[in-house]
Amino acid sequence: MKVSASFLSSSNVPMDLRRLNETDVDYIHVDVMDGKFVPNKTMPFSEMKNIYKFTNKRLDVHLMVEDPKKYIPLYAELNTEYITFHVELMDQVEENLELIKSYGIKCGLAIKPGTPVKSIVPYLPLLDLVLVMSVEPGKGGQEFIPGTKDKLLELRALLDSYDSNIVVNVDGGINQDTKKFCELSDILTAGSYIIRGESFQEQIDGLR
Ligand code: DX5
Ligand code: ZN
Repeated sequence: MKVSASFLSSSNVPMDLRRLNETDVDYIHVDVMDGKFVPNKTMPFSEMKNIYKFTNKRLDVHLMVEDPKKYIPLYAELNTEYITFHVELMDQVEENLELIKSYGIKCGLAIKPGTPVKSIVPYLPLLDLVLVMSVEPGKGGQEFIPGTKDKLLELRALLDSYDSNIVVNVDGGINQDTKKFCELSDILTAGSYIIRGESFQEQIDGLR
């Protein structure tokens, strides 16, 4: 199982990113919030871009924003493996997936807990990743929604029938107890569970 570490709940981002460099974590999950798609707002890109000074890991960028095309060119400049935004944006989805791909970066669609799996069907030919939200997007430290297990089952069946290499990532409330509901995922994204642990590597090992 791959692990992506979110630093959203960190109170000392440079220090925690340096500590994550010493682990075998696969990605750093970068949560971006605009105060519109979700009520909270994360630091502006002018500050966020300094992340390259502190991490040597590839980035897994999660845009919780109303207008992804404003952010995609910025995050495409960094050491980015995936850029993901939300399928709930409807009419803007295809153009933004194409924009991510135009930078040679892998693209993903995130689905909120209340959004049906079938909403991604029209975009399957373009997708590299599906991010299943196991909490309502907007903040770290929330409780895992148990229905996520059935959603993963449905998503896996859809992806198998489509015969694709699309990767599945689950995000929100992941810890040693809830990971058992996510066996059908390829990547687990965890924030507070890793950051609040004494040894980051031990927490990461607990998720693999
Ligand atoms: C929620 C974010 C998640 C969050 C994960 O809106 O997208 O990435 O930071 O944090 P935990 O693991 O604390 O739920
Ligand atoms: Zn996230």
